[in-house]
Amino acid sequence: MCGIVGAIAERNISNVLLEGLKRLEYRGYDSAGLTVIRDGQLHRERQVGKVQALVDAVNNDAENFKGNIGIAHTRWATHGEPAQHNAHPHVSGKVAVVHNGIVENYKPLKDELIKKGYTFTSQTDTEVVAHLIAEAYKDTKDLLKAVELIVPRLHGAFALGVVHVDNPDELITVRLGSPLVIGVGIGENFIASDQLALLPVTNRFMYLEEGDIAMVKRDSIEVFADGQPVERAITELDAKHHNADKGEFKHYMLKEIYEQPDAVARTLAMGIDATDLKADFLASHEAELAKVKHIQVLACGTSYHAGMVAKYWFESLTKLPCSVEVASEFRYRNPVVVDDTLVVCLSQSGETADTLSALRETQRRAKSGEIKGMTTLSICNVATSSLVRETEIFIPTLAGVEVGVASTKAFTTQLAALMLLVLKVGKVQHRIDSDVLSSIVTDMHQLKGYLDRSLALDQSIANLSQMFEAKKSTLFLGRGMQFPIALEGALKLKEISYIHAEGYAAGELKHGPLALVDKDMPIVVLAPRDSMLDKLKANMQEVHARHGELFVFASENSELESDERMHVIHVPEVCEYLAPIVYSIPIQFLSYHVAVMRGTDVDQPRNLAKSVTVE
Ligand code: AGP
Repeated sequence: MCGIVGAIAERNISNVLLEGLKRLEYRGYDSAGLTVIRDGQLHRERQVGKVQALVDAVNNDAENFKGNIGIAHTRWATHGEPAQHNAHPHVSGKVAVVHNGIVENYKPLKDELIKKGYTFTSQTDTEVVAHLIAEAYKDTKDLLKAVELIVPRLHGAFALGVVHVDNPDELITVRLGSPLVIGVGIGENFIASDQLALLPVTNRFMYLEEGDIAMVKRDSIEVFADGQPVERAITELDAKHHNADKGEFKHYMLKEIYEQPDAVARTLAMGIDATDLKADFLASHEAELAKVKHIQVLACGTSYHAGMVAKYWFESLTKLPCSVEVASEFRYRNPVVVDDTLVVCLSQSGETADTLSALRETQRRAKSGEIKGMTTLSICNVATSSLVRETEIFIPTLAGVEVGVASTKAFTTQLAALMLLVLKVGKVQHRIDSDVLSSIVTDMHQLKGYLDRSLALDQSIANLSQMFEAKKSTLFLGRGMQFPIALEGALKLKEISYIHAEGYAAGELKHGPLALVDKDMPIVVLAPRDSMLDKLKANMQEVHARHGELFVFASENSELESDERMHVIHVPEVCEYLAPIVYSIPIQFLSYHVAVMRGTDVDQPRNLAKSVTVE
């Protein structure tokens, strides 16, 4: 989604802004722009397409873009097509604004401004904000006051960066529902939608709260909430966990697939010792976990699939009921949430608007007394995110920064963290047999080895992927805990290769999708040796009989071998509960290699964003 970068310094800041935008490219965008104040004027450049086009344009006019204060933006179109006139920054007289999020009531505000004589050059909601600030500034002659006056008039969720030609030592920023962080330098300060944008210039960050308005100067930062000055802590980040370099890999996605054995092991190590859970794992939350009677998982996309796996784990290992729902549906359907529910929110970014608003809806209902005894927990890859700050319990996924839009290591580490949670709840409530717990923990210690061996499948899956290159559609089948992995395989393939794909519980095949099966339809099957394997083999026969071509990821001991219309790739055999983590790797490789072959933009697929900060 849209990305904001801003800087105020003694040095020329245009390269800081451009580098910041490059580091935000992963969020997804369709145009980019920047403005700096130089010699009492706003110098602005905007380009449709990649940030590199903006870099080239700025470099062609480098002298004019030398400035000490500026704001920059990558835009993901919501109001108005991707076009230069819709790209940010938007300008009204001496005011320039960059904006992330949506101003829902922009239409009546626009009508009001037109009546006052303002002309609009874009279809965006953002231009309204620029004109409103310019109008308010006429009276206040004070940029901070002008911003404070107009913010209550804007409905929606957004973050802003604002500069004014007559105030070249002030950068104003607002956080109200969309992420915004202040980077704290020495004699220079910065703003951005994501700290990642600012890592080349600082590792000290101030995280704004919702509703905060900040006046950022070269050597000071003042934050205001409801017009009153407030203190916000500065956090120092350990840069080694924020390395966003591709290294020798061709794509971030490939690098992130390869990082999984370590990332999963690191995440599991938070909670386990030799044969048991660590005594201190979630120790301070045992009272809340002991009273949980129901688990409600809320998430979107890939994170939702991780939640679906957890449902199988919770119900079979602890016998506690677990519901899983996509956050965007849960939020608006007035769902029943029983007392003593543990609300588990899963998110890589922790800024997903749908997940946040579903969480807030449960909190609103708990506050009104409608739900009693509710506890909220997040499993998230960004410890400083809104989701983490707004939930009572937090389990980090120690995946490190994930840049590829297609989530890989964040997914498998979510699964690792979820299994730790299942075991913890089971143990605290005496719902899990200690031998079962200890056997799963023992298997967890071997998981890194299994994942390392799965990485060795890279080349054979690359060879297989040639057979998908020209296909129009693909089915992914799994049963039990592999059903969510089939859904995830289909999501991955469509997301980055743009081939239509569907995931199905294999037992559903004969209830509809079998009609699609013919010799041109590739069918990917996840077939670990587990309690469902015989049933799954019968489903595969149904495909075989209709001349469908099967691509089977199967355990070494599954007794499945390749034949004329069945390509079998053997995956290391692992206990049934941990198999979803191991089988994630082949489906990631498959989508990756098919996408590379089709020449798509693997790390930044069209129309998608890494951090989906609008509903
Ligand atoms: C994953 O490959 C997708 N890009 C997408 O489905 C993602 O998982 C979803 O948007 C949720 O994001 P989150 O985990 O950051 O909340």
